[in-house]
Amino acid sequence: MLSEQQLDERIARMTLTDKVRQLAQVTVSTVCADRDAAITGSTGSEGLTQADVDGVGSALNFTGAQAALSAHRAHNRNSDVPLLLMQDVIHGYRTIYPVNLAMACTFDPDLVEECAVMAADEARANGVHVTFSPMADLVRDARWGRVMESSGEDPYLSGVMSQAYVRGYHKGGIACCVKHFAAYGAAEGGRDYNTTDVSEHTLREYYLRGYEACMAEKPDMVMTSFNALNGIPVNGHRELLIDLLREEWGFDGLVISDYNAVLEMISHGYAATEKDCAEIALNNEVDIEMVSTCYVHHLEELVHEGRVQEETVDRMVKRVLRLKNSLGLFDDPETGIDEDKAQQLPTAEHRALVRRAAEKSCVLLKNDGVLPMAKDTAVAFVGPFADEKNLIGAWCCLGRAEESVTVLEGVEKLLGRSVPTAAGCSAELLATDESLIPQAVEAAKDAEVIVACVGEMAQDSGEGASRADIALPMVQCKLIHALSALGRKLVLVVFGGRPQVLAEVEQEADAILYAWQPGTEGGSAIANLLYGEAAPSAKLAMSFPRTVGQCPLYYNAFRTGRPRNPDTMENSRFVSAYRDTLNAPAYPFGFGLTYTTFALGQVALSADTLRPGETVQARATLRNTGDRPGEETVQLYIRDRFASCVRPVKELKAFRKVALAPGEEAEVVFDVTENMLKFHTAKGAFAAEPGAFDIMLGLNSADTTSAELTLLAE
Ligand code: NOJ
Repeated sequence: MLSEQQLDERIARMTLTDKVRQLAQVTVSTVCADRDAAITGSTGSEGLTQADVDGVGSALNFTGAQAALSAHRAHNRNSDVPLLLMQDVIHGYRTIYPVNLAMACTFDPDLVEECAVMAADEARANGVHVTFSPMADLVRDARWGRVMESSGEDPYLSGVMSQAYVRGYHKGGIACCVKHFAAYGAAEGGRDYNTTDVSEHTLREYYLRGYEACMAEKPDMVMTSFNALNGIPVNGHRELLIDLLREEWGFDGLVISDYNAVLEMISHGYAATEKDCAEIALNNEVDIEMVSTCYVHHLEELVHEGRVQEETVDRMVKRVLRLKNSLGLFDDPETGIDEDKAQQLPTAEHRALVRRAAEKSCVLLKNDGVLPMAKDTAVAFVGPFADEKNLIGAWCCLGRAEESVTVLEGVEKLLGRSVPTAAGCSAELLATDESLIPQAVEAAKDAEVIVACVGEMAQDSGEGASRADIALPMVQCKLIHALSALGRKLVLVVFGGRPQVLAEVEQEADAILYAWQPGTEGGSAIANLLYGEAAPSAKLAMSFPRTVGQCPLYYNAFRTGRPRNPDTMENSRFVSAYRDTLNAPAYPFGFGLTYTTFALGQVALSADTLRPGETVQARATLRNTGDRPGEETVQLYIRDRFASCVRPVKELKAFRKVALAPGEEAEVVFDVTENMLKFHTAKGAFAAEPGAFDIMLGLNSADTTSAELTLLAE
């Protein structure tokens, strides 16, 4: 490893041209033409000279150990500064675990961390130095395709989960990049890359909290977002990038733009020329320009004209070299690459981990008692996802759909026999062909229980995959209607990267298991859940709307002057409500059933006043009232009754998972501290204001009991 002084000496020996190239990131296919790269926008690299390419600081998105080795070998022939390789390792590298929104539904940060360690270990063996993860963007609009990469609508849960990813990547031996700073998830209308307009108060109270929480785990990098925030494209947003990130939060790691986003300031109408783009982003200390080439082409001139200071460039280059140094790349640019290990993936051990993650992330939304099924039940598994291999979702690096387990494969393996099946229709979003429905009805006609596997395809969520209507595609609804007409028990297993509107078919289903995109072992996990080899325990990290018109929908909304009881249509005029639907979601944040039942008693506090620095305990008794063992997630919410700004109806502050045998009970105790009551006050302080608070405990966000706590001034 080099010392800080040795790094400075290196920088002092570099020409300005060399330095500028360290700030450029190209696709791996630019470094070595025979290698593939994921292209998600213009590559921008056409105008680079061979010397520019030889000297670039970093490259992104490549296909494994051999591609990494080719890139290093091509690079090292011409440069004595090692190449840094980055990749979107989002929910696994070769062994794929459920999409991140599903992982958030586990309410289990230790499991998230374990999966991130596994992903990092696989990625490192394949040559990845840095992952572009976690995505700490808060999300409220299920139309936005990227909700699948998020940890949902709650700032606390999103922060806890994002921290777990950072810890896991570090333990697994790679660096990581928190993204997309900031408020990318607030895209208007849920349309990807769209503009965002978020008040300072809402930013601080909701959107910034996830990224800020990550800072405590010392992420190596932060990625700026594509969007304009309150009129300023983020790569030009000084208040955000300098005043907040660098100065207030003290972040001294690397900041990287998103793909081509420095150049996109021209499309935003914020910069007139590429040269202006370079000047703006560089003076906001966006250290690395991803894919577009404004820096390479214009920075030297900008320095010579005095529009950019060479010390700023030096500081940014230092950050790049420091990261390379901390990863050991100056000693051996190929460090960590292990082709033998890479060849053996996915191992049985990794498969077992992602199976467990899938079991813990599928949410049981409804169950009239049909689940779990006995193994000798006469069943049919129908629907376009019954035998679908691509259950791994978007962003899956070297994950291979053909290596994943379909529901049918999982079920037949578990039962040791084959079961009747038919797709019944296509899973295409806009499919209309109903001609295959009779085949599915025929396959199901002798079944006691019909399991219909439906939902949206992997390609219909993720980056660039927003939907204006998030209802289950109509042809799939027609398939379900036809199956329902058989009069048998009907179970829906629903796949998707986002909450979908299930209103059209909900009443016909006896049970609904929301399986998200469950990853490499999805089919085995679902089989285990359907037959009671494992019990569902997940809770929704995002509210499910009744109709797309409710979007954006989130439980922790600010209070209004004219509230309506969310569960009634009465009094629907001159209150904050719709004439044609309830305010309540179809399924609320924090909701999820299991195969037993639990009763949570009334919350009690150890004291009804709290002084700053003290702790009060909130407790309630949880009892397993059913006849199976099970796991519940007890959730602590607070509400500030009156404050200097309008406060949310409730906010999650803590949660705990508790496993109980039938008939067993446990007292669940949470510490309530002043810290939990803090918010960004009207005076701009982060503080708790004395007065009355409701302290609530519940098994989901909509159903809580409450006790009053008064925060005293001293
Ligand atoms: C664009 C995406 O917004 C970002 O999340 C990703 O990391 C980069 N492309 C690199 O692939």
